[in-house]
Amino acid sequence: MKTIFSGIQPSGTLTIGNYLGAMKQFVDLQEDHNCYFCIVDEHAITVPQDRLELRKNIRSLAALYLAAGIDPEKSTLFIQSEVPAHTQLGWLIQCVSYIGELERMTQFKDKSAGKDGVSAALLTYPPLMVADILLYNTDLVPVGEDQKQHLELTRDLAQRFNNKYNDIFTIPEISIPKVGARIMSLQEPTKKMSKSDQNEKAYISMLDEPKKIEKKIKSAVTDSEGVVTFDKENKAGVSNLLTIYASCTGETIETIEARYEGKGYGEFKQGVANAVIDVLAPIQERYNELIESETLDHILDNGAEKAALTANKTLAKAKKAMGLGRVKRKK
Ligand code: TYM
Repeated sequence: MKTIFSGIQPSGTLTIGNYLGAMKQFVDLQEDHNCYFCIVDEHAITVPQDRLELRKNIRSLAALYLAAGIDPEKSTLFIQSEVPAHTQLGWLIQCVSYIGELERMTQFKDKSAGKDGVSAALLTYPPLMVADILLYNTDLVPVGEDQKQHLELTRDLAQRFNNKYNDIFTIPEISIPKVGARIMSLQEPTKKMSKSDQNEKAYISMLDEPKKIEKKIKSAVTDSEGVVTFDKENKAGVSNLLTIYASCTGETIETIEARYEGKGYGEFKQGVANAVIDVLAPIQERYNELIESETLDHILDNGAEKAALTANKTLAKAKKAMGLGRVKRKK
């Protein structure tokens, strides 16, 4: 059985972009893969976080994973900082990373541009991500399109380590969904939908109430043509809504275009809102049952324990290959 690893940062409530680009894939993949899903809190602190907010977001993300359908009997769900092997291997991977290649990462450029006091950890964010993946002998990493560059770096660094030291690491493949890999902002549809957007109308949070979802979709930026067709270049707003619709219902874009032929954007937007609400409402219901439950803590405790078993073995191999520590004398 192939092994899957993926992670999500607990840096605010997840958007429908995180769900459609990543989490939804996770739920399908767990049926026939050995899966590890992680709450990457150590990645979140590469930019300033309020400690109480972070705590809240970590728990909230765990509950969302489960509410969305991650089954702890099938998948290992855990918090990155509860498995110390992640930062330990992260350090070893930093030692085979070059500053230049880290500076070329677009996420680093975007998050550091024009800022004072950028943390060193923002630059060394990718080696930690590489460690996350390599610790579990991962074959496949399901992510949205924005993580593609980090995944390419992961493959390069794993290869570099294997060539330099010993053939320890599995070289992972990247898995990006055909529809929904890049959900765009509702207000600026040429920009990625992001939970850190200043404008709340730009994104749909997975915990937004139905009324709010409807309102945000109704005020989504479109164009003045009034024709529901997919054309990313010239009709970015409508194309994004079509993608969200298709991704939520599992229908093809063509089916949806045909349904709204000759109809205006008002009716179309109502359809998009209904599709999103139909997906999110049951998730929100389960979320509310889980968020304060002890069950959630048991699942995370078991997850960390199980993850550490595999992670520690890989870490030990990597340390040995690099010549760290000592070989004990037996007299
Ligand atoms: P993060 O927390 O920014 O996003 C989590 C996942 O959601 C996807 N995503 C999107 N997909 C479609 N449309 C969007 N608008 C959208 N926004 C986000 C992301 O591609 C991602 O799959 N560096 C990672 C976290 C990470 C990780 C890992 C991922 C740490 N270690 C190891 C995979 C494997 C990140 O910042 O994701």
